[in-house]
Amino acid sequence: MEKIVALCKRRGFIFPGSEIYGGLNGTWDLGPLGVSLSHNLKNQWWRRMVYERNDVVGLDSSILYHAKVWEASGHVSSFTDPLIECKVCHERFRADHTKEIEEHAKTHPSTGSGQADEWTEVKQFNLMFKTYVGPIDNENNKTYLRPETAQGIFINFDNVIKTSRMKIPFGIAQIGKGFRNEITTGNFLFRVREFEMMELEFFVKPGEDKQWFDYWRNERLKWYFGLGIKKEHIKLIDLPKKDIAHYSKGTSEIWYDWPFMGYGELEGIANRGDYDLSQHAKHSGKEILYFDENTKERFVPYVIEPSVGVGRAMLAFLIDSYCEDKDRVILKLHPKLAPVKVAVFPLLANKEELVSLAKKIYSDLKKSVDGVVAFDDRGNIGKRYFSQDEIGTPFCVTVDFQSLEDKKVTVRDRDTTKQERVLIDNLEKYFLEKLN
Ligand code: GAP
Repeated sequence: MEKIVALCKRRGFIFPGSEIYGGLNGTWDLGPLGVSLSHNLKNQWWRRMVYERNDVVGLDSSILYHAKVWEASGHVSSFTDPLIECKVCHERFRADHTKEIEEHAKTHPSTGSGQADEWTEVKQFNLMFKTYVGPIDNENNKTYLRPETAQGIFINFDNVIKTSRMKIPFGIAQIGKGFRNEITTGNFLFRVREFEMMELEFFVKPGEDKQWFDYWRNERLKWYFGLGIKKEHIKLIDLPKKDIAHYSKGTSEIWYDWPFMGYGELEGIANRGDYDLSQHAKHSGKEILYFDENTKERFVPYVIEPSVGVGRAMLAFLIDSYCEDKDRVILKLHPKLAPVKVAVFPLLANKEELVSLAKKIYSDLKKSVDGVVAFDDRGNIGKRYFSQDEIGTPFCVTVDFQSLEDKKVTVRDRDTTKQERVLIDNLEKYFLEKLN
């Protein structure tokens, strides 16, 4: 794990948030490679969940919602984690993170043995960030930064039904920022305070919810496996009743085998029943019903929700793709996720004819390849290959003296290190096939 964190910093994937001011806990900034990886990941999710289907549409709601949204959804009263405070140094912990509490108790050996009297009573801490809309900071203007994007979908259900003429079963997908004032953060991107989420709310007829719940659990697993996550690192878990929200009719989680904690949540898939739409109907006083033209029935749809954090998924893909092979480090990222798709090199940086041909190929590929194409003429070819392997670039193109004669270049594959000669004129088609 330390190696991945170091690589992410060194190569410009991920930087600590507000680093020059000493950092801001629970925030991370995406550097040039990180933003490319994140963009590709979101793009793959959107492709699968929206573009490739005819039963899902997209939405991008605002981040700030009316405070009543959060009362209706139950977040004001129940979006809490149990908190306890160390009476010795006043550090705060999640009461259910027993390992961290035990570790902390050991840091005060002189005051006792970490007994109960060194800790405050457990109280519930609300994770929503408060803010005020407009120039007056009072209760009437108070709202929250959204801790999930899902509510933006529920409050727009009627708008989407009326404007898109979608028929149940259908879904609304959204990617956007969520904010949670987590009591403790940690494990790099795993638990942070500001993160992007990819959420689908899939509306179904009550009674058909179980079959759609199974369907989405399988779909989501297929998405991870299709992008190269190793099957042996994934588990699908049904959460016991005591661990799920009171309104949920069932929640499964896709667990990843994290190096820092073993199996734990990567993505949640919940059957939210009709809770959210009913709550918004009740609190807003507006009827939110679906009218089935075939059966002439009116009903509140049930909702199946697959939801995952972009950063948490990125972390899983980074960990899963990291490998060391003799003297090289490779990120064996799926080509669709790789932050740089192709790197172009002139064999020698001081041979004008090689450099200008390489630059021509580079600028042509930038137009045809859907993603980042890089150019590198520093150091020797071996070092350039290793440098690209480390960031997961699937293909490198080298222009050498023979290229000037036969109009071919060497294309080297990251995973096999095999090289083949490809006609420059065929490169566009070659990469179109290889990268898709
Ligand atoms: N709308 C459903 C929902 O918000 P959740 O299980 O609380 O469900 C969904 O969050 C996903 O968001 C999680 O499975 C995880 O991938 C990600 N996530 C949640 N809290 C996070 C945090 N503090 N840092 C990073 N990712 C987080």
